[in-house]
Amino acid sequence: MTIVAHEPEARPTRRPAALREIRVALLGLGQVGSALAELSSTTTQGALTGRFRLTAALVRDPHKPRRVDTTPLTLLTDGKAALASTPDVVVEVLGGIEPARTLVLAALDAGIPVVTANKTLLAYCGTELAARASAAGVPFLYEASVLAGVPFLGALQRRPLAGAVTSLRGIVNGTSNYVLSRIAHDRIDFAEALAAAQRAGYAEADPAKDVDGDDAVEKLCVLLRQFAGFDVHPSQIEKAGIGSVEPGDQEHAAAFGGCIRPLVAADWPDGRLTAYAGPAYIDGAHAFSRVDGVQNAVALTTRWSGELLFSGPGAGPVVTAATVLDDVVEAVESGGHERGAPATPVEVDALDAAPWFLRLTAAALGEHDAPALLSTLGVRLRRASHIDARGGHHSQRLLTHPCARAHIDAALDVLAAKTGSRSWRIPVVE
Ligand code: NAP
Ligand code: HSE
Repeated sequence: MTIVAHEPEARPTRRPAALREIRVALLGLGQVGSALAELSSTTTQGALTGRFRLTAALVRDPHKPRRVDTTPLTLLTDGKAALASTPDVVVEVLGGIEPARTLVLAALDAGIPVVTANKTLLAYCGTELAARASAAGVPFLYEASVLAGVPFLGALQRRPLAGAVTSLRGIVNGTSNYVLSRIAHDRIDFAEALAAAQRAGYAEADPAKDVDGDDAVEKLCVLLRQFAGFDVHPSQIEKAGIGSVEPGDQEHAAAFGGCIRPLVAADWPDGRLTAYAGPAYIDGAHAFSRVDGVQNAVALTTRWSGELLFSGPGAGPVVTAATVLDDVVEAVESGGHERGAPATPVEVDALDAAPWFLRLTAAALGEHDAPALLSTLGVRLRRASHIDARGGHHSQRLLTHPCARAHIDAALDVLAAKTGSRSWRIPVVE
């Protein structure tokens, strides 16, 4: 037998194909839009960022001083003109519903892929926009709308088994988490912490949307549509802001070994949905207790893949711009991804059982008064603080074992009648 040895053929050298320029019409040149304009024109990462060309930037006021050099940009105040600038992709970072909704629909109808970071638009009009995008066969991507710097929505959309979620917990508002963290760690006051969040570009144009919980509710609506197929209106979700958290709550929470964080929570075993957005006590052993500042996190309980935890920057102009530009590339090169069946409307109930963190306040309160009374009412306690006599009244913080909401509320009513105490309760995550 003759064996003929062949010289291996020289492999053709692989040269990266020149990256095609992507033309982007930018709707909005505020915090995120300006960071995107800067990032898309930088060449420090070579062709990766240098390939974007902004065809137009829509603003309200073209004469306003801006932190980005506007010389190379075409600033427009007419949204239709921006869409007519023949972009490959429209990026919507205006915020709010109108004119964003009208412009996004017009772009999709014209066959132009759309990328948005606007969770208000998604929460109120997401089902309509996704249906229109799907009917037109046009990519509609919004990775930066929740956990702005963490690409997880698209990844799970393409992985339906890992993405079979049955409940979720999240810290999804960067500003609120930053404010509570700064108050707890740096002992600064609420106004100072919020002003710092605004300077860093984390907050909404109206920061009340952050601290009153609306932004978190809107993000929860986006998550519920994506992971459960539920079309939930923001008004359906029980909401509380972080303005109700007193510095003393954070101090006593720390003494109990945990912390107070802005939480979103939703469970839908058997299709019945319960949801909450507001402050919560986080046990020191839970991963969320280490999610500080502008960091955010989402923990998903899945049917087949166990617990998945995603965490990273939840806000910030640059991280958001980077995620948006990745969506732009995906829209052009991968055609986006399917978003599944249209979402369906559903009833939403408030959380009905949890361990609770309580604050009781009264003119005079003995250390054992409330614990003893609650115990006779069948509320089992894990921890009780000493009496805090600051501010001309007595207050006490308590941690309960799991207890139905109706039960704790009835017990607190009895307590109020017998001791004159006012109460505040938030759920516990452990
Ligand atoms: P922003 O600083 O308030 O910027 C909004 C921009 O949109 C401004 O340039 C404004 O024009 C323009 N604009 C608003 N309404 C307009 C109208 N009716 N006509 C023309 N232009 C209009 O907001 P942002 O912080 O960049 O946020 C933009 C979006 O991204 C929001 O949906 C936000 O929730 C979302 N987002 C923000 C972050 C973040 O860290 N900041 C992170 C993730 C997602 P003028 O400049 O002329 O006023
Ligand atoms: N204002 C939002 C936040 C921006 O603070 O989380 C990111 O969505």
